[in-house]
Amino acid sequence: MSTPNWTPDGGSLIVHADNADYLPTLPDGSFTLIYVDPPFNTGRAQRRQQTTMVRSTEGTGDRTGFKGRSYTTVKGLLSSYDDAFEDYWAFLEPRMAEAWRLLADDGTLYVHLDYREVHYVKVMLDALFGRDCFLNEIIWAYDYGGRAKNRWPAKHDNILVYVKNPVAYHFDNAEVDREPYMAPGLVTPEKVALGKLPTDVWWHTIVSPTGKEKTGYPTQKPEGLLRRVVAASSREGDWVLDFFAGSGTLGAVAGKLGRRFVCVDANPQAIEVMERRLGHTAQVLVPAKPKRVRTRRTAPPRTAAPKTATPPAPPAGSVDPGQTPAAL
Ligand SMILES: C[S@@+](CC[C@H](N)C(=O)[O-])C[C@H]1O[C@@H](n2cnc3c(N)ncnc32)[C@H](O)[C@@H]1O
Repeated sequence: MSTPNWTPDGGSLIVHADNADYLPTLPDGSFTLIYVDPPFNTGRAQRRQQTTMVRSTEGTGDRTGFKGRSYTTVKGLLSSYDDAFEDYWAFLEPRMAEAWRLLADDGTLYVHLDYREVHYVKVMLDALFGRDCFLNEIIWAYDYGGRAKNRWPAKHDNILVYVKNPVAYHFDNAEVDREPYMAPGLVTPEKVALGKLPTDVWWHTIVSPTGKEKTGYPTQKPEGLLRRVVAASSREGDWVLDFFAGSGTLGAVAGKLGRRFVCVDANPQAIEVMERRLGHTAQVLVPAKPKRVRTRRTAPPRTAAPKTATPPAPPAGSVDPGQTPAAL
């Protein structure tokens, strides 16, 4: 395996790393499009973070966030939720902050979620990006699998879309595939032939268990969905990024549409799948793991008892690379 670093003039990369370690090595504003499909819960206890921030009236907060906005620190709020949610917030928030930093001024972030987590992540992204940067919530509707009898069967995913700059973002729906009219008899034959522009509700089948698109990676998303995302929110030659890449669906679509990509995943099985799927268009990068520096939090008082050896807390959101995607 070679070890090329990312450069704006270089080629596409498959990166085997924890995204929390790798993303800070990339320069600000490098990507026109970021698509991520994060796991709901890493299944591993992470460091508790009982501090988060919400937007407050300009100038009244006690911390300063993006674009000089002020935030109020809210302590203990999250402890009223269950552990899984609290862990999820602590895992996702720093990575979403990195996504904001890495987006170009005309860039767009797509975050693929399900109905259980979308509302919390909407609040998180409103705080990080600003509500004026919220562009859409796309509903991906599919029809597959069993049907619950005790509630409306959940057959959709939610994709939140945020832009870095609400007056400068790139969006070109002329590049996107069109859909058949539901009532073709009500429109002209010319319109029927052309099809209609998609709305924010996308009907699309899941990856067929027997189709040629299937890689065997359990959480693989269909290329048809990602094709719309890439076609509308980036141009040929632009850089696109997926830092929860799994089987590399974003990379597969990006390569076919002439974009350059960086696909990051911590799971060796994902890297194997991506090498098979994308290896002809991308190189594999295995960055050296950053050294964890032990820092003494405060100097112990001179009269204190001898130091005890307490291991440092694991980094928030770190993932056991041996964990199978099915467990995610
Ligand atoms: C839901 S899957 C993504 C599936 C992908 N959209 C596709 O079409 O194949 C989420 C991925 O995030 C990866 N992941 C989880 N935590 C990570 C981390 N801290 N750094 C990098 N990758 C991580 C998992 O290994 C998993 O492959």
